Amino acid sequence: MNYSTLKTELDDHIFIITINRPDKLNALNKTVLEELSDAMDKVYNAKNIMGVIITGAGEKAFVAGADILEFTTVKDNEGEMLAKKGQRVFFKIENCTKPVIAAVNGFALGGGCELAMACHFRLASTNAKFGQPEVNLGLIPGYGGTQRLTMLVGKGKAMELMMTGNMIGADEAKSLGLVNYVETQEHLITKTKEILNTILTKSPLAISKVIEAVNFYFNKDGFNEEAKLFGQVFSSDDKKEGTAAFLEKRKPFFKVK
Ligand code: COA
Repeated sequence: MNYSTLKTELDDHIFIITINRPDKLNALNKTVLEELSDAMDKVYNAKNIMGVIITGAGEKAFVAGADILEFTTVKDNEGEMLAKKGQRVFFKIENCTKPVIAAVNGFALGGGCELAMACHFRLASTNAKFGQPEVNLGLIPGYGGTQRLTMLVGKGKAMELMMTGNMIGADEAKSLGLVNYVETQEHLITKTKEILNTILTKSPLAISKVIEAVNFYFNKDGFNEEAKLFGQVFSSDDKKEGTAAFLEKRKPFFKVK
């Protein structure tokens, strides 16, 4: 399959999906999300695919977030729909019956951190940086970040990361349980394949049931609430100011509430 924003490769039974917009730090625009959704359909349907690795092109970024420039073209009243669209793609990853591992090779911010968290687990390169900086834009995470970050690192740290917008490095991410292993960038994919290959020696049916059962543990309606709240902030003046400030490479001035 030829995609304009993804590279895909089948290596034995492992399907490697690389988000491929390195000049924009692999930011998730509409096309990336559509192509990712299509690639996941292929994973569900193809018998010769047994496991998936998701990574980013280049040495700098896994995914630096949703495409902020594109945000400025979406109507104020379409925020909730935008969030739900992204959530649907990420649910396809989370609920995939075959193992999906994120190999986080650089910045995983905003939608990038959310994409990594939708995968079944994560490995990171030493230069990886994680964060949910949406508040800098007058926004909140909308692709499941408020839910999955809280599940993975606990309420207190999740609150801090989402309220400060601060980034954390790979070692801290590992100590928080956000990533399972930290590797050099050179060995990241090799190590990810090594773990996936161990999983692929087990019963595919049993693996699919592990995924299903674990996901049941977190079966709550917070995602719907997140999308609604994202919709509310998406139409705010602070979001207009925050996105404009990013694109104009200046500090934002937010209103006092
Ligand atoms: N959406 C759209 N474009 C993005 C982007 C995003 N989320 N993240 C980076 N880019 C673009 C930049 O605008 C820049 O494009 P340009 O060369 O046309 O100006 C290019 O990618 C390189 O980014 P730049 O900011 O110059 O790199 P840097 O090394 O100075 O900074 C980051 C790297 C990741 C710290 C910075 O790009 C950043 O803060 N990105 C936004 C992160 C974010 O807020 N994500 C959440 C979105 S909801």
